[in-house]
Amino acid sequence: MDNRKILIAPSILGADPLNIANCVESLENNFDWLHLDIMDGHFVKNISFGPSVAKAMRARWPEAFIDAHLMIDCLDIMLPEFINAKPDLITLHAEVETQLLHARLMQIKKAGIKAGVSIGPVTSLEVVKPVLNLADLVLIMSVTPGFGGQSFIESTLDKTRELVSLRAALKYNYLIQMDGGIKAENALKVVQAGCDVIVMGSAVFSADNPAEYLKDLKLKFKNF
Ligand code: DX5
Ligand code: ZN
Repeated sequence: MDNRKILIAPSILGADPLNIANCVESLENNFDWLHLDIMDGHFVKNISFGPSVAKAMRARWPEAFIDAHLMIDCLDIMLPEFINAKPDLITLHAEVETQLLHARLMQIKKAGIKAGVSIGPVTSLEVVKPVLNLADLVLIMSVTPGFGGQSFIESTLDKTRELVSLRAALKYNYLIQMDGGIKAENALKVVQAGCDVIVMGSAVFSADNPAEYLKDLKLKFKNF
């Protein structure tokens, strides 16, 4: 027990695409953040939502913490669109425009939005080390970005453990998030590795009772 607050972020990618608002309402507020996966069919091999969905979420749930995970390139055009949608956090992939990463995080932060940086399972932590001082969050992808419902890749836990050590050694403040293949059965090892924010898509929205599923998880990680 180390009294960390573990945050749970259901991904609406796991919801019925024709019934997203009702799926979110069915969670009865038993979540900390709402995770919005943005995919462009180019950086990743799938297409999900655009800025209009981010704007609609902000309008529908003004008090919710909206966590926008951008798996897209063409940031010159699209990043301002997502900034205009006013999510609470925008996470970019370090594999996109790596040389501009510092500038892109600053662009987000200057708009008053928290800035996160993500790496896929085959990307080394080295890529994000130069921006860890700026990042509000580091997202370690535990599946190949692009699709929900994949299996958790165990080797990604080592990156989370290393981020915990680096944060302590360098006195940084970022939260650590993991995303992909997480469910009630494996969430404990994710948290034990040092993850602060757990993303869950299919596990939550395919549960018989998504609100109860989240309540049980919150209880499990209360005062972890
Ligand atoms: C994958 C997305 C994830 C995905 C997680 O690219 O970033 O957020 O929705 O879905 P599950 O929990 O089903 O693996
Ligand atoms: Zn995601």
